[in-house]
Amino acid sequence: MKKHLLLLFLSFVVLSPDVLLQNQYGNAAALPLYTNSQWIVDENGQRVKLACVNWISHLQPLLAEGLNRQPLDTISKTIVSMGFNCVRFTWPLFMATNESLYSLNVRQSFENLGLNESIGAILVNNPSMLNLTVIQAFKAVVDNLGDNNVMVILDNHISKPGWCCSRTDGNGFFGDTYFDPELWIKGLTQMATWFNGTTNVIGMSLRNELRGSRQNVSVWYKYMQAGAEAIHKANPHVLTILSGLEFDHDLSFLHSRQVKLSYSRKLVFELHWYAFTDGHAWEEGNPNDVCGRIVNTLKSQSLFVLDQGYPLFLSEFGIDLRGGDPNGDRFSNCFFGVAADLDFDWALWAFMGSYYLREGYYALNEVYAVLDWDWAKPRNTTFLKRVAGIQSPFRGPGFSDVRPYNILYHPLTGLCVQKVSPMEPVKLGSCAAAPEAWIYTPQKTLMLNNGMRYCLQADGVGNGVMLGNACSGPGSNWYQISASKLHLSSKLANGTSVCLDIDPSYNIVTNTCQCLTGDKTCDPAGQWFKIITSTRRY
Ligand SMILES: *[C@@H]1O[C@H](CO)[C@@H](O)[C@H](O)[C@H]1NC(C)=O
Ligand SMILES: *[C@@H]1O[C@H](CO)[C@@H](O)[C@H](O)[C@H]1NC(C)=O
Ligand SMILES: *[C@@H]1O[C@H](CO)[C@@H](O)[C@H](O)[C@H]1NC(C)=O
Ligand SMILES: *[C@@H]1O[C@H](CO)[C@@H](O)[C@H](O)[C@H]1NC(C)=O
Ligand SMILES: *[C@@H]1O[C@H](CO)[C@@H](O)[C@H](O)[C@H]1NC(C)=O
Ligand SMILES: *[C@@H]1O[C@H](CO)[C@@H](O)[C@H](O)[C@H]1NC(C)=O
Ligand SMILES: *[C@@H]1O[C@H](CO)[C@@H](O)[C@H](O)[C@H]1NC(C)=O
Repeated sequence: MKKHLLLLFLSFVVLSPDVLLQNQYGNAAALPLYTNSQWIVDENGQRVKLACVNWISHLQPLLAEGLNRQPLDTISKTIVSMGFNCVRFTWPLFMATNESLYSLNVRQSFENLGLNESIGAILVNNPSMLNLTVIQAFKAVVDNLGDNNVMVILDNHISKPGWCCSRTDGNGFFGDTYFDPELWIKGLTQMATWFNGTTNVIGMSLRNELRGSRQNVSVWYKYMQAGAEAIHKANPHVLTILSGLEFDHDLSFLHSRQVKLSYSRKLVFELHWYAFTDGHAWEEGNPNDVCGRIVNTLKSQSLFVLDQGYPLFLSEFGIDLRGGDPNGDRFSNCFFGVAADLDFDWALWAFMGSYYLREGYYALNEVYAVLDWDWAKPRNTTFLKRVAGIQSPFRGPGFSDVRPYNILYHPLTGLCVQKVSPMEPVKLGSCAAAPEAWIYTPQKTLMLNNGMRYCLQADGVGNGVMLGNACSGPGSNWYQISASKLHLSSKLANGTSVCLDIDPSYNIVTNTCQCLTGDKTCDPAGQWFKIITSTRRY
């Protein structure tokens, strides 16, 4: 992760056994995994959607974060209870190449850094860890995740243990101070060998956020192909996940030249997308304009690989979960629409509520984390509910024999328009429960998918929407307007245009369309709906 501004915040410990959300995720996949066009599938050819969270082990202590706060098995079970089915687990290259590092035991590693208090806390929560070498401890974490049916992607995050990433930290690109390509290939081989036979390790991402002045496309092909081949030779089961240039933002060079590998059905690309990827653009412009513009850029820089027939793993995204960051919040409204629509695989940044030691600070708070500083409770349950909306797949191979239909997804809440019942207001509710199935017709009507000729109908400003059987005339055609295409607009009998909206009780109403363009002070996300395609069977 690129550096973002954060506040040091050492909260008081509030032990709270409550609020672990219900697991939204279904049965375990038949491993190993393969690719089939843009989808990741299991042995049976059935889609497996990676709904991962980032949990790191690449900082100086060389231990998965949080083992001073909770027992390992409790942590794994919390990941499952939050609906994630996978962890992107990070490691520094030198932990695999430097024997004097990987043969350190956890106690020594912490003592060397003066982390005496953490040692005491690890002794309380995970006593068996202290005597393990750091690589044994790393494996113990992977194994415990496996015991809990959590898949793991091993991510080579950096070479020299420490916080990542800046352009000038010597870890950015092949040839940098700490980034010898031959050593890197050795380390990837070592890791792949160590985890050959560990079934829940389903993928390895070759290198996080390539960057800096040495970036060079032909060098990228040379070493990324070699690195992928080396992993595959040592461990043919894993997906090989390749990141692009410029901090994992740029895959545009794949337009003109494909990656060539000796093996097939194991190649995945990865992408990172944050609000700060575009500086302060989200708060400095109208959200429709900014979302439209940035998604268009992404289409040509990275999202296009889906159309080329490769999975795209959006392996880092996230926001400050304390609220009050309009740049991040606006970004997230756009992000969730894209994520639901394209239904790609992803890994949220981040799981760890705090760090042992990061950038010189002890017990630093991770404000992007789903867990609170003390690892005892979720930081923001509203956000977890939003995430739940994209944890299960909407479509993909072997998934169901249901003909594609449409769902109305509301990115701000992560909810979907629910099954319409007679005489009841049309409402938002969980996408996992019972969203209404629609067909968005060429005439731009939203017709029920059940064979009955009933259509969504606007009924004036500030009023609830209805179902009508005319399916034509005023109020029955819905246009996707503004640069974001996220407003669904219809014209009333007297010529007034209205947009789909929600009221405070989450009923679907129509209102005057809000700040469609230009105005940067207004946030129209309450009116944002994405028409997504689904083949889910309910
Ligand atoms: C291996 O790690 C040790 C401990 O950090 C360090 O002193 C040594 O220089 C490293 N060796 C190499 C070859 O990088
Ligand atoms: C940390 O523990 C080590 C070994 O027990 C001890 O030598 C050292 O003085 C301690 N450091 C601090 C700051 O307490
Ligand atoms: C760890 O090792 C030390 C010394 O080698 C030993 O005294 C201690 O009992 C061990 N602790 C555990 C939990 O195995
Ligand atoms: C990229 O690297 C290749 C091979 O080392 C070299 O020939 C080429 O000049 C480099 N391109 C740039 C733009 O530096
Ligand atoms: C990896 O494990 C498989 C069994 O799952 C074994 O057949 C193969 O020889 C191993 N490969 C290497 C390079 O150790
Ligand atoms: C939770 O996150 C949302 C963004 O999804 C933010 O708007 C809200 O303010 C946060 N709530 C709390 C209590 O931090
Ligand atoms: C059109 O009708 C709506 C109510 O259906 C009303 O609120 C609005 O003011 C009318 N607009 C005009 C221009 O008459």
